[in-house]
Amino acid sequence: MALRFEVLGRFNRARAAQLTLPHFVCQTPLFMPVGTQGTIKGLTNDQLEEIGCQIILGNTYHLALRPTSELLDELGGLHSFMKWPRALLTDSGGFQMVSLLHLADITEKGVTFQSPIDGKPMLLTPEESIQIQNRVGADIIMALDDVVKTTITGPRIEEAMYRTLRWIDRCVAAHKRPNEQNLFGIVQGGLDPVLRDICVRGLVERNLPGYAIGGLSGGEDKDSFWRVVAQCTAALPEDKPRYVMGVGYPLDIVVCSALGADMYDCVYPTRTARFGTALVPEGVLKLKHQAMADDTRPIDPSCSCMVCKNFSRAYIHCLVTKDAMGSQLLSYHNLYYMMKLSRDLHSSIVHEKFPEFVCKFLQKMFPKGD
Ligand code: GUN
Ligand code: ZN
Repeated sequence: MALRFEVLGRFNRARAAQLTLPHFVCQTPLFMPVGTQGTIKGLTNDQLEEIGCQIILGNTYHLALRPTSELLDELGGLHSFMKWPRALLTDSGGFQMVSLLHLADITEKGVTFQSPIDGKPMLLTPEESIQIQNRVGADIIMALDDVVKTTITGPRIEEAMYRTLRWIDRCVAAHKRPNEQNLFGIVQGGLDPVLRDICVRGLVERNLPGYAIGGLSGGEDKDSFWRVVAQCTAALPEDKPRYVMGVGYPLDIVVCSALGADMYDCVYPTRTARFGTALVPEGVLKLKHQAMADDTRPIDPSCSCMVCKNFSRAYIHCLVTKDAMGSQLLSYHNLYYMMKLSRDLHSSIVHEKFPEFVCKFLQKMFPKGD
């Protein structure tokens, strides 16, 4: 195992912890921005450090295509390639292929897809996914899982869950750097509590350094989503990190943290920034809106980020459709918001003020109580 997970404080099921990884000592709950091509769109590494980003997510699938894992290996891994000194996590590739390429097909061997470069059929097996991730060298690597949308029902959900369990053994056997990289297993099983239970137990038996809850954020309703998270966090070990994949919205992060989850990733804060939307305590602020044209206030008067200290809504409104700087400033503010949210969750739990924090958060977001 190449991590240490020390719980510093709790409130009911919520916990604040220190997660020591090979490249960085992280405080949880934490949010990981998604840096698909080895960069977080619109932000420099210095800016990421400045806003308190502790760990970035990279995608095996994208990195394997370009620059290729062989080249990354030669260049000393992704840390040195992108000059990022802090922690990195790579996702295994299966989910990206299934979600990005409609032509992907999953068999017992692995995920078959058409290369977007030359259209040739390619196969990503659990062994290859791990080999690539070993070369990329992230602090945390993810097992290859069989992901199906939660909106699908029937035997396919069960098949995917059992296949994910069979593949975890192939991933563990293929992992050549367990002292430098932590392999996390991923709980699947759709919205079915029996399948989720079998999957959690199966993974916990393997005694992995950490566990993820996958297959969510695929269009299921919030009640079902939170129920799955609640069930999985309750059954996962207390002394290992729990990562809810692809989550995302500030409200979901607060709720999942209350349910005992520790880590999150999502493209939402940066993607929504590119569409002109800022995250604020009240929810969202649409900078493209005509009302912003002569609004001299900062995006969020209560925010102390570089953007809110220096620029008006009117200025960002002016940029947002015309210049890349508009989405860069919005991405900066939005990621600052996510990092601040993570820090506030951590410190409110440590200082025994978690219920007060959650109340204030909800009151600002839902002032009418609905
Ligand atoms: N990203 C969001 N959800 C998932 C999932 O279920 N599996 C993987 N590998 N990545 C994800
Ligand atoms: Zn700001």
